[in-house]
Amino acid sequence: MTDKKPAGLDNGLTNYGDRDFARYLRRSFASSMGYTGASLDKPIVGICTTESGFNNCHRHFPEMIEAVKRGVLAAGALPVTFPVISLGEVFLSPTSLVYRNLMAMSVEEMIRAQPMDSVVLMGGCDKTVPALLMGAYSAGKPAALVVAGPMMTGRHKGERLGACTDCRRFWSKYRAGDVDKQEIDQVEGRLAVTSGTCAVMGTASTMALLAETLGMMLPHTAAIPAVHADRLRASEETGTLAAQMAMTGGPRPESLITRASIENALRVLLAVSGSTNAIVHLAAIAGRAGIDIDLADFNRLSDETPVLVDLKPVGNGYMEDFHAAGGLEGVLRGIEDKLNLECRDVTGQTLGERLARPLSDPIDRAVIRTADNPVDPLGGLIALTGTLAPEGAILKRAAATPALLEHEGRAVVFSSLEDLAARIDDPTLDVAADDILVLQNAGPRSASGMPEAGYLPIPKKLAAKGVKDMVRISDARMSGTAFGTIVLHVTPETDLGGPLALVRNGDRIRLSASEKRIDLLVHEEELARRRKEFSPNTTEPARGYALLYRRHVLPATKGCDFDFLRVSA
Ligand code: FES
Ligand code: MG
Repeated sequence: MTDKKPAGLDNGLTNYGDRDFARYLRRSFASSMGYTGASLDKPIVGICTTESGFNNCHRHFPEMIEAVKRGVLAAGALPVTFPVISLGEVFLSPTSLVYRNLMAMSVEEMIRAQPMDSVVLMGGCDKTVPALLMGAYSAGKPAALVVAGPMMTGRHKGERLGACTDCRRFWSKYRAGDVDKQEIDQVEGRLAVTSGTCAVMGTASTMALLAETLGMMLPHTAAIPAVHADRLRASEETGTLAAQMAMTGGPRPESLITRASIENALRVLLAVSGSTNAIVHLAAIAGRAGIDIDLADFNRLSDETPVLVDLKPVGNGYMEDFHAAGGLEGVLRGIEDKLNLECRDVTGQTLGERLARPLSDPIDRAVIRTADNPVDPLGGLIALTGTLAPEGAILKRAAATPALLEHEGRAVVFSSLEDLAARIDDPTLDVAADDILVLQNAGPRSASGMPEAGYLPIPKKLAAKGVKDMVRISDARMSGTAFGTIVLHVTPETDLGGPLALVRNGDRIRLSASEKRIDLLVHEEELARRRKEFSPNTTEPARGYALLYRRHVLPATKGCDFDFLRVSA
């Protein structure tokens, strides 16, 4: 913290030419919005908002913004909202991940360029939280996040439905002929029934929990449902806190996001069996601090951290149950002996101080277990390496079929998303239930920008016979709400000529979760011959952001950030 006076409207005032005139002009233009001189003399809290007509998850932000403003004003600062790019997960093409870095740049530059002493970051939908944290870290001003919160569940024929694990479940039933057109249409209107982020432990909820663990959010606020009055109270309190941060000058993200707090976040990711996407986002956030996530370290944490939470897509409950059961607090207390307790949060308290406080309500252990009665004694995710992924791959073992975790099979290869779409349901496709489906050319540098295509559909003819899961391997990602024995983020990716590019139909592949390996069982001489045949894709997008992206995107292990935004370790 510093005791420097907040600069308020003078923040970043240009230092060339006539500085007094620049100040005069700025105040004059600000006055045109109806502010009094007394208001313009106050410290300024920027409210970085991501409302958009293309973002259903943030539809309640106007009400939340009012609450944030109330908190800022009551604490004696001036709230000023400003927009940045918003990313509504299902509306972006080719994929929202491609635009995460663009959003992070807009966040960083708008926080830096505009006059504010601190900032409230408002996001929630999948990529918005990492983009806000990446940008705010690099901008370097005091920042506190408030998230949208999860949706409530809908009802259908007496059962609860939540986006978007149940979207997949119903669509699979429809594909298999178990649900008819009339019912699938009915379910369409019952999957996402309120504002807020997806109702399960998908990417949005995982990232909210990790952001709170990193200390970037008020304690106890990550999982409050979007439509709950507590969400508005949390918004007001965040506004108050941000006003204090504006006056004291801290804490800044760099004092909260550290190697120790990132390790805590990885522990929480494992204990909640969170989204595989979170590992990419956490690597990107860590990269802004010059920190690498080492896959061997990650596996060590995974073997020591039990899964405590029984939620979809892996288990039974929804985020509303998780919040009612005690939320993140229940998870942190369950793995307290494994956490770095000296890490601080936006309020200035340490994690140890937070966890030493008595709880107002008991934790519901049916939803959030204890370490001696876990859902699973091992963490939800592991990193794999081996001859198919020399630099790493990710497997959500908690979402896998146990019998497939040690499996050798014959590769059935799809060379691209188009090839997959054209052939996966072809009745003549040569494929059996114990084969391994391989998708190439869907990594960060591919034209589709690492889509959530790693959840390859089960070929229709096998699905009709009741096959529910197969080992599936790709350099793509998978939605946080999906499940199956799915090896993702294979690095180096196909586009860079990694071993994934060299797999052919009929090759043997071996997955061993216990050894944390994924191996292509083909002789080195044969691979060398195929490597010579590999012709790299040299076509680049003609112009614009797509060209910037292709030239600068880093591998999944570095979080798919741009090379020029990451700080070298
Ligand atoms: Fe926004 Fe799932 S679509 S969180
Ligand atoms: Mg998602």
